[in-house]
Amino acid sequence: MSEFKRTLVTTALPYANGPVHVGHLAGVYVPADIYARYLRLKGEEVLLIGGSDEHGVPIAIKARKEGVSPKAIIDRYHEMIKQAFAELGISFDVYSRTSSPVHHELASDFFKKLHDDGKFVQRSSMQFYDEAAKQFLPDRYIVGTCPHCGNERAYGDQCEACGTSLNATDLIHPLSAITGNVPELKETTHWYLPLDEYENWLKEWILKEHEEWKPNVYGQCKSWLDSGLQPRAVTRDLDWGIPVPLDDCEGKVLYVWFDAPIGYVSATKELTPEWETYWKDPETRIVHFIGKDNIVFHCIIFPAMLKAEGTYNLPDNVPANEFLNLEGEKISTTRDWAIWLHEYLVDFKDKQDVLRYVLTAIAPETKDSDFTWKDFQARNNNELVAIYGNFVNRALVLTRKYHDNRVPARGEVTERDKEVMEEINKSVERVEMCLNTFHFRDALREAMGLARTGNKYLADTEPWKIAEKEPDRVATVLNVCLQVAASLSTLMEPFMPFSSARLREFMAIDPVAWKDMGMNAVAAGHALGEGGLLFEKIEDKTIQMQVDRLEEKKRRLAARETQSAPAKEDVSIDDFGRMDIRVGTVVAAEKVAKTKKLMRLTVDMGTEQRTVVSGIAEQFSPEEVTGKQVCVVANLMPRMLKGIESKGMILMAEDPDGKLSFVAPDKAVEPGAIVR
Ligand code: MF3
Ligand code: ZN
Repeated sequence: MSEFKRTLVTTALPYANGPVHVGHLAGVYVPADIYARYLRLKGEEVLLIGGSDEHGVPIAIKARKEGVSPKAIIDRYHEMIKQAFAELGISFDVYSRTSSPVHHELASDFFKKLHDDGKFVQRSSMQFYDEAAKQFLPDRYIVGTCPHCGNERAYGDQCEACGTSLNATDLIHPLSAITGNVPELKETTHWYLPLDEYENWLKEWILKEHEEWKPNVYGQCKSWLDSGLQPRAVTRDLDWGIPVPLDDCEGKVLYVWFDAPIGYVSATKELTPEWETYWKDPETRIVHFIGKDNIVFHCIIFPAMLKAEGTYNLPDNVPANEFLNLEGEKISTTRDWAIWLHEYLVDFKDKQDVLRYVLTAIAPETKDSDFTWKDFQARNNNELVAIYGNFVNRALVLTRKYHDNRVPARGEVTERDKEVMEEINKSVERVEMCLNTFHFRDALREAMGLARTGNKYLADTEPWKIAEKEPDRVATVLNVCLQVAASLSTLMEPFMPFSSARLREFMAIDPVAWKDMGMNAVAAGHALGEGGLLFEKIEDKTIQMQVDRLEEKKRRLAARETQSAPAKEDVSIDDFGRMDIRVGTVVAAEKVAKTKKLMRLTVDMGTEQRTVVSGIAEQFSPEEVTGKQVCVVANLMPRMLKGIESKGMILMAEDPDGKLSFVAPDKAVEPGAIVR
């Protein structure tokens, strides 16, 4: 690290089309923040760069769906994301956005330079065009049948049912998602970055010169490089994005993955006039924090762009993470299967560090990992409260009790004391080694190890038992404990800055410099502050509420998925004619004892009264049902339900979240009227 003077840390720019969730945090923002805080604490020059990615097709689609402008969408989420990050303590030096004028200008200039230097090739291709909408259709704007699994709602870039990535032209029966019309193929021209020309250089640069990259990153790069690179289009036919800065390019914009990484540069430029030092001085190193779906863009495409431009540094490392799952299932923004940061911050006020701790402890560093609420609770209660919090609290309480709340001086030092004091320095060294190599989970485990050491030391020495007989021994033990506590306030700071600040307040100390952690972190005689609890136990009922909320989401999702399931097979009019559906009037209703859902209805069918058992009792009371007209499948074979013979079935409509409505005539009719 020493050959570098400064570090530029970037975090993937999240799309401003939805809030951020725990998956984003564990994968990118928490480790990047730990890293930047660590370097700052060590006195290094470092910038942490972030911002919103505000172009691209998904934002355009969302805007169209909601009937608002893309600007309305990005303004909403940009502010929300920015604030949530700030509340979690992600210490960005700048959090910008790609709709900013500085970025538009810089990205345009970058493109223009590559264009003028002849770094692109221009090519024609056939693209789907929607005549009625008068526009070319990005792959996401085309729906059709997946050639692999037959899903009828596959998108032009991917089938979400079977996960295969597709080209729009692969779809069977492609339709425009805008108008529903059959699109036609029409010729269009785009600029391509000929990645094939960079292949040998990339192989050398990554596979030979960066063997130290994380195995998951290196492996993905290798497999891309081994299968050969193709020219990549860097422009699109779209009306949302940065206009292509050339003549006669109406309706064309820069591809979002061309402009977004340049956003890192623009954000730096907005922050400081020294921005070029951070991007071009060979003594600066660049580290990109990203998720695994971004590896190809940061390790292959963006470096090729920078290489083509010629004046920029290349990234030094790209410590990409795998994915975090939630309770065993893939996190999904569109399916609302996530824990949203802004909601967490409300539900768990002042517990930022608990989330930071848990997400670091389970970070998907080498493979996908899983967040569960039970584990969250266990780590808080058994680790933060029982080890770190308990140690600090006991050290402070005992000092108040036996030493007038002042740090006692050390007397004679035993082997055991020495061991603990040395453990401070060893822990610091191990944490450094882990952080320098992007092993955040291990780093946190080592830091917690020091708290564990302190805790065990107190339990073994039991100063409360020897207070009267051996006051000098107690003074030494407490001094050692307070050195450990003061050191922890710095060692834990990158991971858990909020509790570190609280700990300093409890001890009434100024920040302990990184190099000052050790046996003299706090001076004898120093008067401590009021103390307090560093962490609180999280109760079962708090966790149960979160679990219930997820269960509810799951129920809603299941209902939605049944709805969008493919329609049933065609039936003939004769098949339909075999159904005898009639209108009846409910004349009596009661809940079926010992069941939750069932209600026994007596229905006047004109010629007779029938008993029908229906699964509506959770959503309707007998009183509100009595007197209603309903549609009944009258020739359904009788069935026994909870010992009652049910003759027929009431027709109900069920909406995506499972809410039931009666299907009924729109004005009163004679009971027995036929539905057909
Ligand atoms: N918006 C992208 C995503 O969420 C990340 C963009 S990173 C940048 O996957 F390099 F392009 F900025
Ligand atoms: Zn499929």
